Amino acid sequence: MKIVIDSISKAFGSVTALENINLNFESGEFVTILGASGCGKTTLLHLLAGLTAPSEGAIYIDGEKKDKPGADRVVVFQQAGLYPWLTVRENIEFGLSLQGASKEEKEQASSHILRIIDLEGFANHKPYHLSGGMQQRVAIARALVMNPKVLLMDEPFGALDAQTRASMQAFLTSLWEKIHCTIIFITHDVDEAIFMGTRLVVLTSRPGRVALDTAVDLARPRTRDAVFSAQFLGLKRKAMDILSA
Ligand SMILES: Nc1ncnc2c1ncn2[C@@H]1O[C@H](COP(=O)(O)OP(=O)(O)OP(=O)(O)O)[C@@H](O)[C@H]1O
Ligand SMILES: [Mg+2]
Repeated sequence: MKIVIDSISKAFGSVTALENINLNFESGEFVTILGASGCGKTTLLHLLAGLTAPSEGAIYIDGEKKDKPGADRVVVFQQAGLYPWLTVRENIEFGLSLQGASKEEKEQASSHILRIIDLEGFANHKPYHLSGGMQQRVAIARALVMNPKVLLMDEPFGALDAQTRASMQAFLTSLWEKIHCTIIFITHDVDEAIFMGTRLVVLTSRPGRVALDTAVDLARPRTRDAVFSAQFLGLKRKAMDILSA
């Protein structure tokens, strides 16, 4: 699987949000895209999701031009957005129901994913019985159960308190280490951007352009110790210089 962002620009009237973005992503990469508020991160994610059309350029997945939403790309937003009247399991199975999956198929898929996200004990609970972090785990499970080619995440931990946020970063990191799904994760938090992924892209302030695109080779399994390493601090300095330019 290959994602190509080919010479994408996006303007909203006289405001240029993104300018000439060129990026290629391979299967299994965990890319974090870092940028200041208003630099066009959400716009870029919406373009990848097919929710917005580019002003110039195009997005290709495996050579196929993508200008509409599709089951190959699933988005996780800042708010979990679970259906409050459904149980955790029913929320996870919802997309499969729309696809006409049988009861057995749904149960098998949701049980598997509930094990992966370690929420088996909460399968029959309603979302409001869960903490914010647990709800966001269910939102991730609901996306993954659709077996997308790529998981698109727009500041999914932005609404969580600092401690829950740190534990969700560790959760997503170890989830990726287990299943190696392709993730494109957007954030304005420098530490979060460097800590989790295999690759870091930093955008300039408006209009958003790619200022840095680099591998993140911190040891795996990744632990909190990573944030004290020389590589982490070097990347952090580079990223902060771009954000404050
Ligand atoms: N639908 C729209 N109509 C007009 N302008 C828009 C629209 N969507 C985004 N913009 C503008 O494009 C720019 C980039 O917005 P975008 O939401 O992509 O930024 P962002 O990096 O996600 O910001 P944040 O970190 O605050 O979420 C902003 O100046 C915004 O005002
Ligand atoms: Mg945004």
